[in-house]
Amino acid sequence: MAIQWFPGHMHSTRKAIGERIKDIDVVIELLDARLPGSSRNPLLAELTGHKPSVKVLNKQDVADPARTPLWLDWYNAQEGIRAIGLDASEPAPARRLIDACHALAPQRGGMAKPMRVLICGIPNVGKSTLINTLSKKSQAKTGDEAGITKLEQRITLADDFYLWDTPGMLWPRITIPQSGYKLAASGAVGKNAYDEEEVALELLAYLKQPYAPLLEARYKLGLSPAAIDALREEELLEAIARKRGAVMSGGRVNLQKAAELVMTDLRSAVLGRITLETPAEFEAWCTESEAL
Ligand code: G4P
Repeated sequence: MAIQWFPGHMHSTRKAIGERIKDIDVVIELLDARLPGSSRNPLLAELTGHKPSVKVLNKQDVADPARTPLWLDWYNAQEGIRAIGLDASEPAPARRLIDACHALAPQRGGMAKPMRVLICGIPNVGKSTLINTLSKKSQAKTGDEAGITKLEQRITLADDFYLWDTPGMLWPRITIPQSGYKLAASGAVGKNAYDEEEVALELLAYLKQPYAPLLEARYKLGLSPAAIDALREEELLEAIARKRGAVMSGGRVNLQKAAELVMTDLRSAVLGRITLETPAEFEAWCTESEAL
């Protein structure tokens, strides 16, 4: 069953962006470096027209370091886009953001023509954390529940550089099924929109090939990468459940508990540095879903 999610506050976010965009020079879209294709918002392109865009691959500290450069290249090859990687450990991210915006809109700058930037991102992508770092005070509240509305605010990054925040949003309809599962696994979708066991199975079906060594390191299944890959995802979840003691009375495995465990391990990066899609995979999913 495909995942669909459309929290009510997104209507107001759409409106807020629509009203703000005419005075904006560059749009910064914050992406999750663990799912750099699926965490982008196709609606944003519609709402922001042809404004230049900086794609920030955030949380790169928990993404696969071999895959992040592939995604940076993929975005940087697109016209009007500059991509940079960031994570919360970077003490002063403002300089890189400012430089990327100036590269895209060199005509802006100075007090007469200050740079006006809008920052957007789906829930849980780390926008509040980044804004807190940028503004050096806790203006934005961080939290782990997807879909919390926040009021618009303006941050002055330099005398001639203004950054507007908007509430987080996700596209109204997830048209690529694989993206829906990955977004749910990463924590970007409200918990009531998906079934944890179903999402964990989809997640394991993906992880068991490229990330079998990480699964073995975490769950000590005593299996080679090839043996892990050969398991069906149901068998893999069951093996994890037994290893982690997710067993009910009578010896039946508690698949729901095991599903929660796997997703918690992914989100907290206890599983290791993982990126849930490559550019080539994402392009193939886009092509498939258009054909649906
Ligand atoms: P949002 O405004 O876009 O919804 O996201 P927010 O900043 O609230 O961040 C969501 C979660 O992601 C937070 O964790 C935050 O600490 C974490 N996060 C933000 N940036 C980074 C990053 O660059 N790397 C990593 N690894 N994590 C990041 P949380 O568990 O929900 O809350 P808390 O533990 O920080 O209280």
